[in-house]
Amino acid sequence: MKITINNNKDIKKMKFICKKASETLEMISLYIKPGITTEKIDTLCHDFIINYQDSSSACLGYQSFPKSICTSINDVVCHGIPNNKTLKEGDIINIDVTLHKDGFYGDTSKMFLVGNKHNNKIKILCKETLRSLYIAIKLVKPGIRLGILGKNIQKHAEKKGLSIVRNYCGHGIGKNFHEDPMVLHYDYYDNGIILKKGMIFTIEPMLNIGKFDTYLDHDGWTVRTMDKKLSAQYEHTILVTESGYEILTLRNNENINYVKI
Ligand code: MF3
Ligand code: CO
Ligand code: CO
Repeated sequence: MKITINNNKDIKKMKFICKKASETLEMISLYIKPGITTEKIDTLCHDFIINYQDSSSACLGYQSFPKSICTSINDVVCHGIPNNKTLKEGDIINIDVTLHKDGFYGDTSKMFLVGNKHNNKIKILCKETLRSLYIAIKLVKPGIRLGILGKNIQKHAEKKGLSIVRNYCGHGIGKNFHEDPMVLHYDYYDNGIILKKGMIFTIEPMLNIGKFDTYLDHDGWTVRTMDKKLSAQYEHTILVTESGYEILTLRNNENINYVKI
């Protein structure tokens, strides 16, 4: 397993593309309302990425993925394909964007609550999924083992009565969309690699209200919970620094000491 240690020049490029990815989520937040189709959300993101960010979508055409972003609604865990269905009051949706420019990739996603009539259970799912990401991020520093992150994400999820998806994980990222290491979000007997300054990877926990089992839809992409219960996900691209971490995809209004959904 060969894990990239990024030099300063590459880190600068990663910061640049990751900032653009976070700005895409900021831009689209204004449009997430009942009545909009996920296809429209996809078009808005696509045009913004091309025309304003002077970048490209890494998703479009990736292993034949047909759209520029992933839109995962309610029981969809990840990799939902934008289509002509409209968002409804009470839905929850994850929007996952990966941008590419100058040879580097930036990957981030967040949940949006559609409308304002969500019950506590749904709010807790989203809030605790975000909190599990923040708990993991705060542990990142040179010298720790990667496995610590998954162990603590799972511990937090289960403390809140939620389950943690096993079938999909975070990943190294840089000159490749997906590279080593795999970032597991659950406890695994192998404690994983030792983190070093200059490594860059995503953390992207998926938490479910019901069981952790998932299945792949007939379209070959859409991942759903087996029990049809709700799932949530948040994702950031993280750099290991000398003293700890830097969240390369942090949004302007985001403060990881204050969990706001
Ligand atoms: N952005 C997703 C991730 O976090 C991958 C999406 S691949 C796609 O790794 F083809 F579905 F877009
Ligand atoms: Co990712
Ligand atoms: Co992603």
